[in-house]
Amino acid sequence: MTNTATLALHGGPPIRTAPFASWPQSGQGERDNLDRVLEQGQWWRTTGEQVRLFEEEFAAFHGAPRALAVTNGTNALELALDIAGVARGNEVVVPAFTFISTSMAVQRIGATPTLADVDLDTYCMTPDTLAAGLTSATTAAIPVHLAGHICDMDGLGTVASGRGITLIQDAAHAHGAVRRGRRVGEHDSLAIFSFQNGKLMTAGEGGAVTFASDADAEEAFLRHNCGRPADDILYRHEALGSNHRMCEFSAAVLRAQLARLPEQIARRERHARRLYAALAALDGIVPLRRDSEIDVNPHYMAMFRVDPTVHPDLDRTWLVRALVAEGIPAFVAYPPVYRTAAFWLGPVPDASEQELALACPNAERIGAEGVWLHHRVLLGDEHDVDDVARAVEKVLEPAPTRRAQAAASG
Ligand SMILES: Cc1ncc(COP(=O)(O)O)c(C=O)c1O
Repeated sequence: MTNTATLALHGGPPIRTAPFASWPQSGQGERDNLDRVLEQGQWWRTTGEQVRLFEEEFAAFHGAPRALAVTNGTNALELALDIAGVARGNEVVVPAFTFISTSMAVQRIGATPTLADVDLDTYCMTPDTLAAGLTSATTAAIPVHLAGHICDMDGLGTVASGRGITLIQDAAHAHGAVRRGRRVGEHDSLAIFSFQNGKLMTAGEGGAVTFASDADAEEAFLRHNCGRPADDILYRHEALGSNHRMCEFSAAVLRAQLARLPEQIARRERHARRLYAALAALDGIVPLRRDSEIDVNPHYMAMFRVDPTVHPDLDRTWLVRALVAEGIPAFVAYPPVYRTAAFWLGPVPDASEQELALACPNAERIGAEGVWLHHRVLLGDEHDVDDVARAVEKVLEPAPTRRAQAAASG
């Protein structure tokens, strides 16, 4: 179907004027828990109870033996790397397509991120791309469950154990995700989460690490608490660490957010299926593919690529601007990490930007062709999802029509 309506970018009426679901969301649960913290008069975890309760609930929800709440996901990554024994001079394999924190955390502890390409359709590191990124200096790898799609942890685990390296799951997008019947905490590895403002559950900022063993959890507690045991009153500092403690207010909010999460995931799953089916029907739009082994994707982002062989004249950044003008919360995909200035300021692999780009063709394509939509488009009803698909169809209108519109609007 050809849509000849004038683009909102060129002054036409937008597809969408009503707001999508708001984010973040809150209710009586957050208020009651925050009141509880005010009344208990203890605003830090050392003498309060909300952080400890949140850790128990969060660990149980993800099937992990233990969890530790921390200040944010980036600090959670640094702490997990530390617990995994990664040190200055080591190499850690990270996906080339991810938010910068995954590689930056490696660099911040003095190790070198080496890059694995990702699958063109799931945007995840694969066992093959992990294997290709290994060297004799590799001590760990950080698969990222991008947009909520859990990586092939069985295949990655086989490659990792064969080479004696530690896997750390970056589950900043994957609260509540399930693959082959197993939740993030059931993959026998460290995992990190983020609770920043846009994430699937949030206190504005915050993070967590889940652990497969009590020993790791105990060591991480010390290191996030300036080396002090929980009950210390004698200034015993038994490990080299820092202060990454979450405060009681954040945990109070997160306990209520966690209680709301399962219903929100079910709603996003329902609407994502409808949205992806509608997008797949549009010429040259390639939605994120779901592995058949995924049981639950919580959909931190809805993502798609624009195929340049079908739309050779279409500029992806223009398309995002056009979608935003149509009232859709759309964003360009992350650039590959080596395409940022910051990447080159820390320890880096012995390769140029161009060489890394050649080694990571899929990350290059996703970075250039990818579009992501805020998960609040999936939290409303079916009409919301249909509006998103209609907006994408509208802005894909044949280029000659668009050029004529642009000329007409000066
Ligand atoms: C994949 C990924 N890892 C790590 C982080 C870091 O989390 P935070 O922003 O809480 O530091 C983020 C982003 O927010 C992320 O998207």
